[in-house]
Amino acid sequence: MSKKPVRVAVTGAAGQIGYALLFRIASGEMLGKDQPVILQLLEVPAEGPQKALKGVMMELEDCAFPLLAGMEAHGDPMTAFKDTDYALLVGSMPRKQGMERAELLSINGKIFIGQGKALDAVASRNVKVLVVGNPANTNAYIAMKSAPSLPRENFTAMLRLDHNRALSQVAAKTGTKVGEIEKLTVWGNHSPTMYADYRFATVNGKSVKDMINDQEWNANVFLPTVGKRGAAIIEARGLSSAASAANAAIDHMRDWVLGSSGKWVTMGVPSNGEYGIPKDVMFGFPVTTQGGKYEIVKGLEIDAFSQERINKTLKELQDEQAGVAHLL
Ligand code: NAD
Ligand code: LMR
Repeated sequence: MSKKPVRVAVTGAAGQIGYALLFRIASGEMLGKDQPVILQLLEVPAEGPQKALKGVMMELEDCAFPLLAGMEAHGDPMTAFKDTDYALLVGSMPRKQGMERAELLSINGKIFIGQGKALDAVASRNVKVLVVGNPANTNAYIAMKSAPSLPRENFTAMLRLDHNRALSQVAAKTGTKVGEIEKLTVWGNHSPTMYADYRFATVNGKSVKDMINDQEWNANVFLPTVGKRGAAIIEARGLSSAASAANAAIDHMRDWVLGSSGKWVTMGVPSNGEYGIPKDVMFGFPVTTQGGKYEIVKGLEIDAFSQERINKTLKELQDEQAGVAHLL
C-alpha cells in the first residue's frame, strides 16, 4: 500500500537554493523513494518572485515526478505552513562579497519571528524545521523562541554544509574516500568561528588525527579553509553557494527522518547544556539519528585547543542572541 503524502513547506522557493532543492525533494531523495510529498512553496508576495515561483512549478510539473502528490504557491506563511510536517526555511537575503553572515541578522532576523509564529499557529505539532537562511543558527533560535507551543528540539540549523566541506578536505589530505570517514563533526556557529574537528574521526578504524599528524595544517590550513569556504565561493561565483547548500539540506533532513545508521552527522540543535553550552543556544554538535530523533554524542574529551575554539564560537552565538533579544 502506498504511503500517505506528507507536507513539505519550502521558503524562498524561487531563489537559487530553492531551484537546486525542490526537484530533489520531489524525486524522493530527501524523504525516501516511497514517500509522496505535497510541496507548500512560500515566496514574498510581490509579483516578480510569485511569477518566478510559478515558472519553477511549471518545471516541477514537467518532470512528472510520481511522488509529487501536490504543490501550492503561497505569499503568506500562515497558509504556506498549514499542517506542514517539514519546513525548510531558506528564504532570506544572501550575503554579498565582503560581508560576514552575522551582518544579515538585522535584515533577515525579523523574517524568522513571523515564520516562527506562523509555524506555532498552523503547522503540524510534530513539524521538523531546518533553517538554512543566514545567519542560520541565530535565525533558528529566533524561530524556536517565536514558536513556544512546538517542541524546541524540532528547530534545527544547517551545519551540514560545513560538515560535508570538512569531509572533503580531510579525504583530500589523507588520500581516502569521503564515504570511509566516520566520526567527524563541526562545533558551533555556521560562521568562520565554527570548529571543524577530526580528532575522533576514523577511516576503516584508523585514526585520522594520527594519519594527518600535523597540528600546523589543522590550525592554519584546514580550519580557515572550511570556515571561510562560503566566502571563497562567493568570491569565485559572484553568488553564494546554492547546489551544495541544497545538497546539505537534503542530507540533514534525510538523516534526521530516515536515520544515520549509527554514523555521526552534524546538526545545529538547541543545547540542553551539553559540553557546557548553555540551554537553548543553537549549536553545531555531533549527533546520531534514529526513528526521527537526533541524539547529541556525549562524553567526548575536549582538549585545551578545542575548548578555546568552542568558547570562541559560543561567544559569537551569545553575542548574536543578545543582539536579537529586543526582537523576541
Ligand atoms: P536567493 O536570493 O537566490 O533566494 C532567496 C529567496 O528568498 C528569494 O527568491 C526571495 O524572494 C525569497 N525570500 C526573501 N524573503 C522571504 C520571506 N520572508 N519569505 C519567503 N521567501 C523570501 O538566495 P539563496 O542563494 O537561495 O540563499 C538563501 C539563504 O540561504 C541566504 O540567507 C543564504 O545566505 C543562505 N545560505 C545558507 C547556507 C548554510 O549553510 N546555512 C548555505 C548557503 C546559503
Ligand atoms: C555558505 O556557507 O556557503 C553560505 O552560508 C553562504 C555564505 O554566505 O557563506
